[in-house]
Amino acid sequence: MGIDVHNITIERASQIILRNTSLQFSDNKWTAIIGENGAGKSTLLQAMQQLLPLKQGRITVDGDIGFLFQHADQQFFETTVEKELSFAPHYFGWSRAKIDAKIHEVLTLVQLDPSILPMLPYQLSGGQKKRLALATVLMMEPAILLADEPTAGLDPVQHDVMLNILKTWQQQGHTIIAITHELTDVLAFADDIVVMAKDKPPQQMDTEAFFFDAPARQGFHFPPSVATFHLVEEKLQRRLPRARTTAELIHIIQEEVQRDGVCD
Ligand SMILES: Nc1ncnc2c1ncn2[C@@H]1O[C@H](COP(=O)(O)OP(=O)(O)OP(=O)(O)O)[C@@H](O)[C@H]1O
Ligand SMILES: [Mg+2]
Repeated sequence: MGIDVHNITIERASQIILRNTSLQFSDNKWTAIIGENGAGKSTLLQAMQQLLPLKQGRITVDGDIGFLFQHADQQFFETTVEKELSFAPHYFGWSRAKIDAKIHEVLTLVQLDPSILPMLPYQLSGGQKKRLALATVLMMEPAILLADEPTAGLDPVQHDVMLNILKTWQQQGHTIIAITHELTDVLAFADDIVVMAKDKPPQQMDTEAFFFDAPARQGFHFPPSVATFHLVEEKLQRRLPRARTTAELIHIIQEEVQRDGVCD
């Protein structure tokens, strides 16, 4: 088990933010945490890093955690990209050769060119900074990545680049717990979802159950492909195979049209 959150209660400034909350984050899964502003998402992530006192309960973590801040600038304090990447491994006594090999490996994963190594971290573009911040976290080979809105502020291309990098890293045998406000990304990338709200206990479920099972999906603005899927199901008055992408949805509708002959 990656992280086991057992019956925790957290108070901040005399206000209960999480009450009697239990959640399980499995190894090698991508769990998305969603919910309204102020629901306690960042608080939960901070608690999982053992940064907050618990009023009650316990959090058990199996494996090293890396933390990706929402704002990349919060992560940098060195004068060059190379020093930034070397800082933690150097502190933990890695050899120069091992550090250099890891820098090469991590830069390849996050799609940054080694020519940026002498640059000031602050000279990079927003998208590059976000990927450098991820690279600095991955240098220490964490088993679990906690990410607070890893795509916030990125343009649509950089947004997809970031998510695909994270997916590749997950597929290499790692665990991701990431806060997001974008349900389209949850549908495309997450295995599990935790839904948080201010005055309700968090709900945890399989991503497909969230999008496709009726009780779970009240009150959310779903991605167009999912909304269309539910409309088609309603119109045909039967359950269809679940479609996670628009391409899958079109395929299912084509099959249905062929089956029924005409569909209006
Ligand atoms: N450092 C702090 N001290 C006291 N209260 C805090 C602190 N940080 C957050 N809170 C309070 O905890 C509650 C939950 O905040 P949190 O930042 O966890 O929400 P969130 O779900 O991450 O929201 P957002 O989507 O806006 O990032 C809020 O009421 C907030 O005011
Ligand atoms: Mg937050």
